[in-house]
Amino acid sequence: MEMSKVFFSRRNLLKGSVAATLTTGVGGLSSVATAAEEPKIRPLTGKMTYEEVRNRAREMMMPRCYVCPECNGRGPCVGQVPGFGGMGASRGFQANYDSLAAVQLNSRVIHGVHVPDTSIDFFGTRISVPVVAAPTGGTTYNMGGKLTEAEFVTAICGGCSKAGTLGAVADGIGDPIDVFEKRLDTLKSLGFKAIVGLKPRLQKDIIERMRLAEKAGVVALTIDLDSAGRAARATKGQTVEPKTLEQLKELVKATHLPLLFKGIMTPDEAELCVQSGAAGIVVSNHGGRTLADTPGTASVLPRIADKVNGRCYIMVDGTLARGTDIEKYLALGAQCTLAGRHFVRAAHGGLADGVALFANRLRNELAVAMVLTGAQTIKDINRTMITIPQSSC
Ligand SMILES: Cc1cc2nc3c(=O)[nH]c(=O)nc-3n(C[C@H](O)[C@H](O)[C@H](O)COP(=O)(O)O)c2cc1C
Repeated sequence: MEMSKVFFSRRNLLKGSVAATLTTGVGGLSSVATAAEEPKIRPLTGKMTYEEVRNRAREMMMPRCYVCPECNGRGPCVGQVPGFGGMGASRGFQANYDSLAAVQLNSRVIHGVHVPDTSIDFFGTRISVPVVAAPTGGTTYNMGGKLTEAEFVTAICGGCSKAGTLGAVADGIGDPIDVFEKRLDTLKSLGFKAIVGLKPRLQKDIIERMRLAEKAGVVALTIDLDSAGRAARATKGQTVEPKTLEQLKELVKATHLPLLFKGIMTPDEAELCVQSGAAGIVVSNHGGRTLADTPGTASVLPRIADKVNGRCYIMVDGTLARGTDIEKYLALGAQCTLAGRHFVRAAHGGLADGVALFANRLRNELAVAMVLTGAQTIKDINRTMITIPQSSC
C-alpha cells in the first residue's frame, strides 16, 4: 500500500465514509484533536481487507494491544487492567477462550438448508446477526488514546449500524456525568441505535444516567454488576457498589427500557436476576478483567441457561471472534452475544468501515456454520449441534 494511503490526515478522514456522521456529530467534534496535534497514524477508511484493518489496529493500539494472531489472553497484555488484558495472570480471559474452543460443532450435511436467516429480533429491533458490540470504555487508559471518545462512539455505533446490528456506549467508572452525556449526544446526533452499559453506581446516580439514555434512542441497558469491585477506580463524588435483590428490583422499575444485568456467572445469581424482573442477563466475566481466575463463560452458560429456562433473555460474551463462536454460544443456551475487544480493534483499524467489515464477516461465517450444522434460522440452533466437553455439563 502507498504511504499516502497509509498516513491519513484528519481532512482525509473526514472525506471518508464517516465524514457525514462526524461532521454532523454535535458532541463529537469539540473533543477532536486539532490538526496541529494530529497523530501520524490514522485508521484506514474506504475499501480495505480485514487483514489491513488488523495491521492498522496494531499500529494504533500498541503497546495496549498487539493484535495477536489469536486473542486468547496469553499475549503481552497479560495482567494489563487498565489496558486490554485480563486481571491477575489473565486466567479468566484465557478460560473464556479455552472453554469456547473446547466446544465443537457437529457437522450435519443431509438436510434442506440453503440460505439461512441469521437475523433476530432484539427487544423490538431486527438485527442482521445475533451479535452486538459489548460496552467498552476508556479510549485513553484502555486503548491507547489514538481515537477520541466521539470518534470511537461513531466508529462502533456507525459500523454496527451499517452492518445491521447495534453498537454500544459505555459509562466509565471515573467519568463525570457530562462525559457520559457527551457520548450519548454523539449517538443521538448520528441517529444510530445502540445499547448502553451503565456502571453499578449508587442508585440515584444510575437512575440519573438511565434518564439520559432513555432520551438517546437506546434499545436496551446493561449494568455490569461485576464492576462493583472497582470502587478504587471511582473518583471524587462517584462510587460503585454490589447490589442487593431489592436494589435490582428498584432499578428494573426505574426505567421503561429493557434492563440486563451483566456479569452473571452462576445459576443462583441468574435466578436472583429473574426474580428482580430484569429483561435479561449477560453471562460474562468482563473479559476476565474484574475477578481473576473465574471459569470461562462457555463452561458456565449451559447450567445458567437450564436454570433460567426461558424466563429472561440470555446474552453472553468472551473472546468471540468468528461466526462459529456465535453458533456455539447460541447452542449453549444464549439468545444473543456480545463482542468486545475485536470490535474495539476493528474501530481502531478502520473506523466505522472496519467495524462493519468485522460484523459482516461474523454474519457470513455464521451463515456457513448454520448450513453445515443444519440450522435454517437462529431459533433452530440447539445443543444437538455441538459436542460439549464432559466437565462443562
Ligand atoms: C477495554 C475494555 C473496556 C471495557 N469496558 C467496559 C465497560 O465500560 N462496561 C462493561 O459493561 N464492560 C466493559 N468491558 C467488558 C466487555 O463489555 C466484555 O464483557 C468483555 O470485553 C468480554 O468480551 P471480549 O472477550 O469479546 O472482549 C470492557 C472490556 C474491555 C476489553
